[in-house]
Amino acid sequence: MSILTRRHLLRHAALSATAATPAGAALGTTVVAALGGCQPGDPADRTATASDPAARLSFPPDFGWGAATSAYQIEGAAKEDGRGESVWDTFSRTPGRTRNGDTGDVAADHYHRYDDDLDLMRDLGLRSYRFSISWPRIQPDGTGAANQRGLDFYRRLVDGLHERGIAPMATLFHWDLPQTLQDAGGWESRDVAYRFADYAATVFAALGDRVPVWLTINEPKTVVQNGYLSGHHAPGRQDPDAAYLVAHHLQLAHGLAVRALRATGGTGRIGPAFNLHPCYPADDSPAATGAARLYDGYENRLYLDSALTGSYPEDVLADLGPDSQMVRGIRDGDLKIISSPIDLLAVQYYTPIYVTASGGTERRWPTSEAEWQQIYPDGMYDMLTRVTRDYGPIPLTVTENGLPTPDVLADDGTVDDAGRVTFLRDHLAAAHRAITDGVPLESFHVWSLLDNFEWAEGYEQRWGLIYVDYPTQRRVFKRSAHWYRKVIADNAL
Ligand code: FCB
Repeated sequence: MSILTRRHLLRHAALSATAATPAGAALGTTVVAALGGCQPGDPADRTATASDPAARLSFPPDFGWGAATSAYQIEGAAKEDGRGESVWDTFSRTPGRTRNGDTGDVAADHYHRYDDDLDLMRDLGLRSYRFSISWPRIQPDGTGAANQRGLDFYRRLVDGLHERGIAPMATLFHWDLPQTLQDAGGWESRDVAYRFADYAATVFAALGDRVPVWLTINEPKTVVQNGYLSGHHAPGRQDPDAAYLVAHHLQLAHGLAVRALRATGGTGRIGPAFNLHPCYPADDSPAATGAARLYDGYENRLYLDSALTGSYPEDVLADLGPDSQMVRGIRDGDLKIISSPIDLLAVQYYTPIYVTASGGTERRWPTSEAEWQQIYPDGMYDMLTRVTRDYGPIPLTVTENGLPTPDVLADDGTVDDAGRVTFLRDHLAAAHRAITDGVPLESFHVWSLLDNFEWAEGYEQRWGLIYVDYPTQRRVFKRSAHWYRKVIADNAL
């Protein structure tokens, strides 16, 4: 296994803060040339749409304006209505694992406040709401009969969305693996992929008639990198060899769930949710170009190629080596399952990566409160256009994009998150440019609807459009929420 494997950009891992002159994004330039669009190298073009109020950017008439959340991050009610334990309960309750020892036990108390939260979504004007279903609420031990009270919660939520004219988009797995399955080997065990398919089938049977879009696994890469390489996410392992076996089993689980949905004969659409990071060479040396290419293999192609073309990238397999657990774990027919036809691809974009000749990374743009995030809106354009160029015109949805800001509830009851407004405006402008250049992007979900439990960062980072005052659980529209409501109403930036 090469040095690159270990040096991956890991969320919260320290990056070398090398000052560097911003350079053209080589990948983006190639993509645009291929699509015949405008040239992103022109600085005026990059900013004109975002800052010139006269140049309004209208979105397609049926564009799916949305916001996203996940179960463990917002629901709370960790011990209610028969919910089982997940790896995140175990992890967050282990001293030293999360900032301030924070857990999702209460979170934004959405389990009890979902009806009011649905009203907030309606007030915001959302057309699409992406949430996740907690596996341990449905199958407390990860297998067997469904817990009806768990299913009923999501049925009420989904019905409440329909009543308000908001399309539900449900993620089946956003990292909260039942602890009993972790005890049985977790995602290192091939069997867990089959348990996931059974769980998915249970959910499809209960909600398949009322959820139009399903997402299988949220960010398999983050489970691999944070759960098994750096270990700062559940289950807290640091085992590079096991990490990529986990990647294979997550991909297998995705494919099996797609097949499970097809077996129901239902009309719902389904796809995976990948966080994709454009990987740019930090300089124009052949070594940096080569290193960035391999980095891209681990960050993006491992997931995209297997799901969309039915093969793992040769460079990554060669780098892992024939004796790696992953390569030995791939069985005949697995890639056919993993590449079962999907209906749409969910893209989550937060940051670019700049790869040096030695396979390290360096910063090029300002970072946010999340030190792994460099703010680079053109990366959104580059990634969306690249996916369309390389994998064909599969419908795309952006299921996460957002920024943490140091939000404060002022005495006058307002929250002025101007930085989030700028960030979202610039990223939406980049998404709009991608649509103009032929990318079939159908919806965009801000991360996040509400402030919530940001994993190892606990409650310290606030990512919501809506402020949550945790002691009182009061919700307050931030400036960005008012801004987003107007964008949605205008269907334009
Ligand atoms: C994504 C996760 C989401 C949230 C945002 C900030 O990687 O899917 O749950 O943590 O990052």
